[in-house]
Parts: sequence; structure tokens; C-alpha cells
Amino acid sequence: MPGHKIHLIAGARPNFMKVAPLYHALAREPWCDVRLIHTGQHYSAEMSEAFFADLDLPPPDVNLEVGSGSHARQTGRVMTAYEDLCRRDVPDWIVVVGDVNSTLAVTLAAKKLNLPVAHLEAGLRSRDRTMPEEINRLVTDVLADLLWTPSPDADENLLREGIAPERIVRVGNIMIDAFELQRDRIMAEGTAQRLGLAGRAYAVVTLHRPANVDDRAVLEGVVDQLCRAAERLPLVFPVHPRTAERLEAFGLAARLAEQPGILATSPLPYRAFMNLVVGAAAVITDSGGIQEETTYLSIPCLTLRPSTERPVTVTEGTNRLIRAGQLGEELNRALAQPPIERRRPGLWDGRTAGRVVDSLRTVLGVC
Ligand code: UD1
Repeated sequence: MPGHKIHLIAGARPNFMKVAPLYHALAREPWCDVRLIHTGQHYSAEMSEAFFADLDLPPPDVNLEVGSGSHARQTGRVMTAYEDLCRRDVPDWIVVVGDVNSTLAVTLAAKKLNLPVAHLEAGLRSRDRTMPEEINRLVTDVLADLLWTPSPDADENLLREGIAPERIVRVGNIMIDAFELQRDRIMAEGTAQRLGLAGRAYAVVTLHRPANVDDRAVLEGVVDQLCRAAERLPLVFPVHPRTAERLEAFGLAARLAEQPGILATSPLPYRAFMNLVVGAAAVITDSGGIQEETTYLSIPCLTLRPSTERPVTVTEGTNRLIRAGQLGEELNRALAQPPIERRRPGLWDGRTAGRVVDSLRTVLGVC
């Protein structure tokens, strides 16, 4: 039976763990003909293929191969390539996830073709329009027909922006599904042992936001603080390509490499990275997703940002927003406190993909 054709869009690293649980759930549905479309925003093996392999995803049905570029160039390339694809292969629905440039670009191209779009992880707002992701979130949510939200604050943001309530469906946090699907294999990884940290307390560091890494003085300040923190406990730092490029350009790479206590590595695949997080005493990050994963796992998270689009990780979870200058003091605090009691936000239960499938069945009228 020819099914309803769904384009499931993935562009950059944080998209892959969001599309994987949904891909697996849709692939089991007899009414659904799911196509995995990779825009090619991220293309390095360690930022892309490694995640497909770890998340049991098949190679994408289509790769638009847009690559890196300025925001407008990258967005424009995805738009034109995706428009061409839709003319050859008209989908019944398009599912975009997260807040990267590919999310916005596909939504814009699709809505100009009058095709229906659903946005998974809708409604998050940092209220900081200097973040490219905030622009992507605002525009995607204004255009998408169906908005799948992870938490009540997201519903409230959308309602406040005048979005009709019937477009909003709270489904929970899909990242937790990805973790639960891979839990046993994540636990079996032994990443800390491989890095020579068996039995030792350590913290994990990730940094890639333009606001933290693109300015020399800011990045130098962060590196100073990390070097100080590394005197307290070892830091494992899988370095994002943007950050690696900036560290090199600002002459800071050697300093990090020489600092005892800092283990700088290439970006790690999903399971190896999550294994490291599960065993960490604390995490220092500016990522969005890691704020959620640490809340789910009850691991203290120090987020080097002035705002978060994921406020439940602060109000209900283990996350604290800090400035680089507070790192030492906050790290001491996090390490001194007894293990944090689990407070998992509602619907962060590993069953989000099932709720998304139900919602799609409803809009498609599939019984
Ligand atoms: C993008 C997303 C960000 C997400 C992050 C996770 C936007 C606006 N930003 O930021 O929300 O948190 O991904 O990684 O969509 N590069 C490689 N290999 C790759 C991809 C990138 O080497 O596979 C290098 C290139 O030099 C590129 C730079 O990293 O110019 C930045 O990549 P880009 O996709 O523009 O933004 P990210 O910082 O990765």
C-alpha cells in the first residue's frame, strides 16, 4: 500500500538524536512512507555519519549537501535545494526538528509551496534575538502548521505569540527517547576508562556558541577559567569544529593542549559522549540539548549563557546559568552538594515519538 509520504528533515548534529526515535517509530507504521532528508549542514564524519551509525539510522534517502557558509548563504542553499526536491518528490507532511538553520530554511521553502509542516521541539524561547537559533525558532513556529512542544512553558510562549491553540500539541522531550533507546549500549561504552579516567571524578566541557567562541577576549576568558577549574578536577573537552577553528585562530589551542588536567578530544559520537556524561561529576556547556540530558540524568550542569530557551532545566532540573567568572565557585558548589534528587519534567519519559505518531495519525485521518 503506498503510504503517506513524510519527509523527516535533519541538518546538524543536534537534529540527529531528535529524528532517530521518530524515524524508528514511523518506519514501523504501515500507513507511513518515511523519507530521511539530510540537508548536509553538518557533513564531517564525526558530526554526522558517526551519529547515524550510533542511532541506528540508515543513510539518508536524500542528502542536499549544502555544507557550511554564512547564515544567509546556508539558509538560501537549503531553501533552493529543498524546493527542487519537493517538486520531484512531493511529501504529504514535512517534519522539522530543533532550531538550526536547516529547520528554518526547509519550513520557509515548504510553506511557499503550500506544503504542511510540523515542528518538533516547538515553542522554546530564550528571548535573546542575538542568538541565530532564536530567529530560527520564531520564524519556524509562526509558519509551521503543527507545533509539537516539549514542556508547558513552550505552550505558553506560543499562545502568547497568538498561535491558535489547536495547532499546539504537547508531546514531551524526544531527546529522552533517543537516550532510552540507546541506554544499554551507552552504559556499555567505557569512555572514561578509554581516556584514562577510570574511577576518577571528572567534568565534561562542551562549547560552541558564537557568543562564547567567536570573540577573542571572551574565548580567552573562558579558557582561563577552564584552566583554573582543571586544577580542581580533570576536564574532558570534546572540541566542536567551530571552537577548534577559533582556538587555533586566536592562538589558544596550544595553551589548552598543554594544560594538565584538560583532555581535549575530537567531537565524540553519541553513545561515547553520553557515557561520559552519565559518569560525570558535572558538565560545563553552552549547548541546548545537554542542559536537558543532564536534567534527565540528575547531573549538575553549569551553562555558560545568560539565558536559556529551556527554563524547566533550571526550575525543575539541575541546570544553572553562569558567567565564565563564576565557574570556579559554581563548580565547587556543584561538587560539594549531595547527589541531586531526580526531578524529571512531565512527559520526559521516552514515549514522545509515540505521541508524535498519534498526532500525525490524527491530522492525516489514519485510524
Ligand atoms: C549549528 C547550529 C547550532 C547547533 C550546532 C551544533 C545554526 C544556526 N547553528 O552551529 O544551533 O547547536 O550546529 O553543532 O544552525 N563544521 C565542520 N564540519 C561540519 C560542520 C561544521 O567542520 O560537519 C565547521 C565549519 O567550519 C563551519 C563551522 O563548523 O563553518 C560552523 O558550522 P555551522 O553549521 O555553521 O554552525 P555550528 O556552530 O555547528
